Amino acid sequence: MKSFLKLILPLFLLNACVKKEEGTNTTWQVVQDEILTPQCANCHMSGTAIMKQSGLDLSKGNAYGAMVAVSPKNISAKEDGLVIVSNEGGLKGLGKSFLWEKINAYDREHYLENHPDYGQMMPPGESFLTDGQLQFVRAWIEARAPEEGIVADEELLADSNRYVSRAFKPLNPPENGFQLHLGPFEVQPNFEREFFHYTDTKLSEDVYVNRIQIEMRPGSHHFIMYSFEKDTKTGELPVFGVDRELRDPDGAIHTPTFLTIFNHQFFGGTQWPRLDYKMPPGVALRLPSKFGLDQNTHYVNRTDSVMIGEVFSNIHTINKSDVQHVAELFSMSHMNFSLPPKKITTLTRTFNVSKRIKIGQVFSQAHEKMTEFVVKISGGSRAGEIIYWTDDWAHPPILQFDPLIELNPGEGLTLIATYDNPTDKTVTFGFLSTDEMMILFGWYYQ
Ligand code: HEC
Repeated sequence: MKSFLKLILPLFLLNACVKKEEGTNTTWQVVQDEILTPQCANCHMSGTAIMKQSGLDLSKGNAYGAMVAVSPKNISAKEDGLVIVSNEGGLKGLGKSFLWEKINAYDREHYLENHPDYGQMMPPGESFLTDGQLQFVRAWIEARAPEEGIVADEELLADSNRYVSRAFKPLNPPENGFQLHLGPFEVQPNFEREFFHYTDTKLSEDVYVNRIQIEMRPGSHHFIMYSFEKDTKTGELPVFGVDRELRDPDGAIHTPTFLTIFNHQFFGGTQWPRLDYKMPPGVALRLPSKFGLDQNTHYVNRTDSVMIGEVFSNIHTINKSDVQHVAELFSMSHMNFSLPPKKITTLTRTFNVSKRIKIGQVFSQAHEKMTEFVVKISGGSRAGEIIYWTDDWAHPPILQFDPLIELNPGEGLTLIATYDNPTDKTVTFGFLSTDEMMILFGWYYQ
């Protein structure tokens, strides 16, 4: 085997060099030659048991037709409406691509937790693709996975870092800032435990936060920290240090807890078990000392034994004098709508800005009738460009932009949300889960 490799390697390298110099390699060819052939096709090749099991031939000449716009063999993924590689482009295309689910190591814990029937991650074991390979495949899928043309920069492949899975480890408190620690707490067998816990941050003045780290024991579905709307009265705030359960033991929503969330102001959070979110240098969110932080954790225990949850959050602060831009939280909310019974309705609403702003993060908020939420740029040179897509009302992605999205006066964002109302009642805006919402949250600075 070794001598065979020696023989073939120089040839291969030579070949690659010549091709690169000519600059004729299409992005798809690079995906095939640099990623699929060396790392996947050994298993995914006709005649192998794996090819029979997975139904997927990733060898040269066959892979494109086997993947793009093809339904997966995996039944669970198929039922979720995924294709192996979608050619719809953008985030939507990425979200619909089973291949991306299978290779995106950074979302591994979400994958293992929420998609027990999707099979293993690819390649199996701990030999994840490099960050460069992941970014390259991602760029190709976002550009509609074309067979021809160059849509991704080969320089990306130079990044040879790799995701390393590591066990839960408590965070050391930050040098500047403070730490919150929730738990350890129990999650009963076959139960989704979601609760809020209002913590006194004991701040004597407002602080400026430019990095948030979160580390959780496995099994977490999401974790969010909330501050409160400016004009929230003391009497409307929850009591410090008490777990407020969202569900009763029978699974029904516990209304008193639900009622405490109306004045929430999103501060930070993640669906992933681990987050290290850094804002650009000199940009920081102001955390008001007037309120504590309401921690919201959601653990899903599908096993027959008690599970232990635990969350550490580091709130890193910078001095006020080092803040060049205070990031402001925004919400673009469309409230005046009605969704007729037994109909699918798409609502479109554009929010223009009056000042020049830069947007760093967005995520959508809607309830269970929402089937798709799209955000596009309105006006300017990037008009029509989709910057956000989700079909997951319960856990919409919290999306970071780097570089930030710039909007000039008169430009804005168009929210396009689709709802399926199977009931025989008209549904309007409201806070109950049977009502609907159409909101985009995020932060920006001027
Ligand atoms: C060691 C062998 C092996 C290697 C290497 C391997 N796979 Fe797989 N792959 C499998 C097996 C076995 C299955 C079926 C079971 C599963 O999904 O876990 C599969 C299934 C898949 C599926 C699901 C197909 C479907 O329609 O359900 C995709 C997509 C996939 N592999 C992509 C890849 C990619 C991309 C690579 C390279 C980065 C890769 N695989 C490397 C063994 C392998």
